[in-house]
Amino acid sequence: MSQSKDNFLNDVFLTLQEYILKSEKNDFVVKVSSAESLKQRLPGLRPQGASSEEIVDELKTILENSVQTIHPMFLNQLFGGFDEAAWAGEIASTLLNPTMATFEIAPILTVIEKRLVSELLKMMGFERGEGIMVTGGSNSNLVAMLCARTEYSPSIRQTGFGHNRFRVYVSAEAHYSFDKAANITGIGTQNLIQVPSNEKGEMIAEELERIIKADLNEGYTPIMVGATLGTTVMGAFDPLVKIAKICETYKIWLHADAAWGGGALFSHSHKHLLKGLELADSVTFDAHKTLGTPLITSFFLTKHAGILKDTNRGGGAEYLFHEYDNSEWDTGTYSLQCGRRADALKLWLLWRAHGTEGLIKRTEHLLELAQYATKEISSNARFKLIHSHYLNVCFQVHARHDQENINSFTLRIRKELVQEGRALVNYAQRADGTIFFRLVFPNHQTQKSHISELLKIILETANRLDIV
Ligand SMILES: Cc1ncc(COP(=O)(O)O)c(C=O)c1O
Repeated sequence: MSQSKDNFLNDVFLTLQEYILKSEKNDFVVKVSSAESLKQRLPGLRPQGASSEEIVDELKTILENSVQTIHPMFLNQLFGGFDEAAWAGEIASTLLNPTMATFEIAPILTVIEKRLVSELLKMMGFERGEGIMVTGGSNSNLVAMLCARTEYSPSIRQTGFGHNRFRVYVSAEAHYSFDKAANITGIGTQNLIQVPSNEKGEMIAEELERIIKADLNEGYTPIMVGATLGTTVMGAFDPLVKIAKICETYKIWLHADAAWGGGALFSHSHKHLLKGLELADSVTFDAHKTLGTPLITSFFLTKHAGILKDTNRGGGAEYLFHEYDNSEWDTGTYSLQCGRRADALKLWLLWRAHGTEGLIKRTEHLLELAQYATKEISSNARFKLIHSHYLNVCFQVHARHDQENINSFTLRIRKELVQEGRALVNYAQRADGTIFFRLVFPNHQTQKSHISELLKIILETANRLDIV
């Protein structure tokens, strides 16, 4: 590298700043390229290092050839947007580069994480619980299953399963991470039972109880129900109060996957969707989904203080965990990871910058966007609204002369949208074969005008494809 560190950093920051400022005005969210052409655009790894100018140029190429997830028309996944305070937290965390395993190496960041955990525990009605930041909602669901296993069989960490007759229940609409967790925990994917959901995507509590009873009769041991609060596709909330009653009757750990729907904690108008949250044994919450922090800002929270250590402690780490003042603050003894990023700081700075009221305002804005989109879609005969709840709006597009099946037409439009790259919205398929746009609103940069523009683009694309 030829430049001084100062000049290099200056150029890097200017490049990043330009990217941020341009992102809103860019007329594309994605420029689709083949893997082969991207390969051509990147020089290889060489024996000699590149100059700082080359590195900065390469950084620009990488930014230009990436999906602009901070763009207001990025509505493809359950995250998006940009917040300067959160970003400041993110870059400071990577600069400080601590591991959250011990207080000694991450003193103030440990205090910050614990403060966030206790604030969220309070909001969820878990007075004396505990929690930890994890590598994602998927990981949080895994930790929940491990805790349920510990609760049922405290020595299982050492003894393993023997012959496994455990059963875990989720709805048919639950996130696929439960399937992975069933694999990793040794419970087995065939023992993860999908309870039927109703047409709104909510678990049918009566079906849950019927299946549990049948399983007990056959000698299975139900250990956990994973209720989803805000399903990935339909935004459905499982009936938590009813499910909690069933869990209480049969002594089953109740985990609430509120990775997406936990955003309603920060809403006056939709908080009721989380009714009964305090009845759960544990909760998954992803602040990166609705609050606008960069990936990853995930929490696993439980009302059972002590269970994380019982579940996750590992032997032979005296090289790391010493007795010292404040060593009771070490989080590494109850985390699944050893090295752990300081993910708390971005949420801390975001929360400090906006205050709880600001975060509530942000969430209400997202909810208003979803309602606006629902109204616009419902009032246009070219669209067919499939379902709308929370921050999820599912719809299809009719071909003009009904000459084409609505599923394949919707899919063709989505493919064309990706090629054009002006907006990014994902699609999903229901078990009955229905294919639809799944429009989601995690991105606080999005305004009503963007939704109108998006629907206009979709209709223009539909008209173009209609005559082909
Ligand atoms: C309901 C639900 N749970 C869990 C997850 C997994 O979260 P993460 O992507 O943070 O692992 C998702 C992701 O979209 C989700 O929608």
